[in-house]
Amino acid sequence: MSIQQKISPAWYEEWFESEYYHILYNARGRRDAKLFLDNLNSYLKLYSKQQILDLACGRGRHVNYLASIGLSVTGIDLSAPSIIYAKKNATNNASFYIHDMREPFGDNSYQIILNLFTSFGYFEDIKDNIKVITNISNALTLHGKFILDYFNPNYLKQHLVKQEIKKTNDITFHIKKNIQDNFVYKFIKFKDKGKDFMFTERVMLIELEQIKCWFSDMNLQLVEVFGNYHLDPYCSNTSQRMIVIAEKC
Ligand SMILES: C[S@@+](CC[C@H](N)C(=O)[O-])C[C@H]1O[C@@H](n2cnc3c(N)ncnc32)[C@H](O)[C@@H]1O
Repeated sequence: MSIQQKISPAWYEEWFESEYYHILYNARGRRDAKLFLDNLNSYLKLYSKQQILDLACGRGRHVNYLASIGLSVTGIDLSAPSIIYAKKNATNNASFYIHDMREPFGDNSYQIILNLFTSFGYFEDIKDNIKVITNISNALTLHGKFILDYFNPNYLKQHLVKQEIKKTNDITFHIKKNIQDNFVYKFIKFKDKGKDFMFTERVMLIELEQIKCWFSDMNLQLVEVFGNYHLDPYCSNTSQRMIVIAEKC
């Protein structure tokens, strides 16, 4: 049986709803979010009258930071436990809803839409990616901006760490990664309280050219690409991130 067949098509529901996802990525917190958003804010010059959407907001670390500096921000995410957590910890001007990004989420409603920390490329069927981009385009106002923070597929292919062990909160995560059929697979195994667990992440390798094509079909014009959270220029060989800024035209 191939590895792909063992993976639940809705792996992203199981994994992101699990407390273990938040334990493994606990270094990706508010401080991390602040660094990136302060740089993004200097570039975009956000202001309080704008409506901002964080698409796939998780527990709301980006939403709450932006709301804490006086911006109006909505976060949506598929994971009910994440949205419940986000609502409990919400700052003023922050609202949160459970929502699947494949379903429409607005019409001419937002000046800014964010999709951060690789919250795209999970679906097996490419049509679902296109649905999401269509929804983003429809939800943006004219000249509104979409910010996609994705990994750089070329850098990932060249620097793939095939095996690693991460210890956090008394849990030892054994992680294996490989690339198959244009997806990067991450297999996460660990034991907790005597029980064995295994989760999988599977994310599509998407080239910048592909993103440009999808965007231009949906009236989204690429205006800038950055290569890291300091917003240094993107270089396809050396940048770890591929942070794409597009404008609705
Ligand atoms: C890698 S996490 C990042 C979360 C958040 N952006 C952050 O930086 O902390 C990806 C998020 O995408 C959400 N997600 C996955 N599939 C989704 C879907 N179909 N619609 C909305 N959110 C989804 C997950 O629940 C998870 O919270």
